[in-house]
Amino acid sequence: MALEIASERPCDRGAIDVVHLAAFPSSAEADLVAALRRDGDLRVSLVATVDGAVVGHVAMSPIRVDASPARALGLAPVAVLPAYQRRGVASELIRRALDMCKAAAVAFVVVLGDPQFYERFGFAPARPLGLADTFGSGDAFQCLWLERAKRPPTGMAHYAAAFEALREAPAPEPLPLAMIFAAGANGAIGRRGALPWDYPADRAFFETTTREHAVIMGRRTWEETGRPLPGRLNVVVTRHAPREPGVRHARSLDEAIAVCRTEARVPFVIGGARLFAEAEPLATRIYETAIPESPDDADTFFRRRTDRFATVATWRGEMGEAYRILRAQSAG
Ligand SMILES: NC(=O)c1ccc[n+]([C@@H]2O[C@H](COP(=O)([O-])OP(=O)(O)OC[C@H]3O[C@@H](n4cnc5c(N)ncnc54)[C@H](OP(=O)(O)O)[C@@H]3O)[C@@H](O)[C@H]2O)c1
Repeated sequence: MALEIASERPCDRGAIDVVHLAAFPSSAEADLVAALRRDGDLRVSLVATVDGAVVGHVAMSPIRVDASPARALGLAPVAVLPAYQRRGVASELIRRALDMCKAAAVAFVVVLGDPQFYERFGFAPARPLGLADTFGSGDAFQCLWLERAKRPPTGMAHYAAAFEALREAPAPEPLPLAMIFAAGANGAIGRRGALPWDYPADRAFFETTTREHAVIMGRRTWEETGRPLPGRLNVVVTRHAPREPGVRHARSLDEAIAVCRTEARVPFVIGGARLFAEAEPLATRIYETAIPESPDDADTFFRRRTDRFATVATWRGEMGEAYRILRAQSAG
């Protein structure tokens, strides 16, 4: 397994979101990462990739200890896709994040987690050092002091504002079902069996966000693709079973979702129009690109019909396109 660690790029943001959705039982951690980024508090954000696919992520954000001026960071959250867990990915992410802290003269790092796991990096329970956290976490709250010459400050460690949302116990959520699409200002999504535009950054966003997961597509979208998308479970919805190798067949959206879940993959509905319309009321997450064009000769259109989605993250691409990650509000 050729593991690489790098700082996040804009096109990794969708993939980071899905790594946390796949690794945790609720969307709280995925939403936390987006909120830290929005607030400018994502001081370290590293992705672990295998053959170009994002399989893990670690974030670090500022910690303030009462009146102390010491520069400190909190390590959270860390997530690895279930299929890549227990293969050293999290450890490598954490080591590299700590190396960055040392290089940036960070005085200490805190973490909330299993002391047996974190002691290998040098973390020790923080309470005996006189340092407590606002979550009242006992021995799970640990500290790694990086400045040899000085003593750690004592008092209460405060996390970045985005962590406040974690105080409420997450409501039970349905299993993730994602949709990913790009639409013009007039709702256009297709023209003569193809995309009406070429936005390389949007293609990269689609590629990194869906890799390692499952893609569900209608027969026409499959014909456009022409071959299974690599590194993903490909499921084609059609009344006529495709014979191509490397593709799973389903007769309905429900059947397609069931196939993905049996294989423990996050299902992404990737089009076309009918599948998007059918999936929208069920979707828990939407990855949407607003293309700043209105192709007037388009023949396939999709517009979201409900307002049950809240924006988790939004940013702009270099060609004026706008990326948005949305979550179903009822899904927490
Ligand atoms: N902008 C984007 O993000 C985006 C994404 C995807 C596609 N597109 C574009 O959209 C166009 C293709 O989309 P499209 O809407 O025309 O076709 P499509 O949804 O890809 O394919 C339609 C076919 O899929 C099967 N199907 C779809 N929904 C089904 C359901 N609920 N149950 C059973 N079968 C179902 C049927 O196949 P059978 O007739 O074989 O039964 C149907 O004729 C292309 O231009 C493509 O480039 C754009």
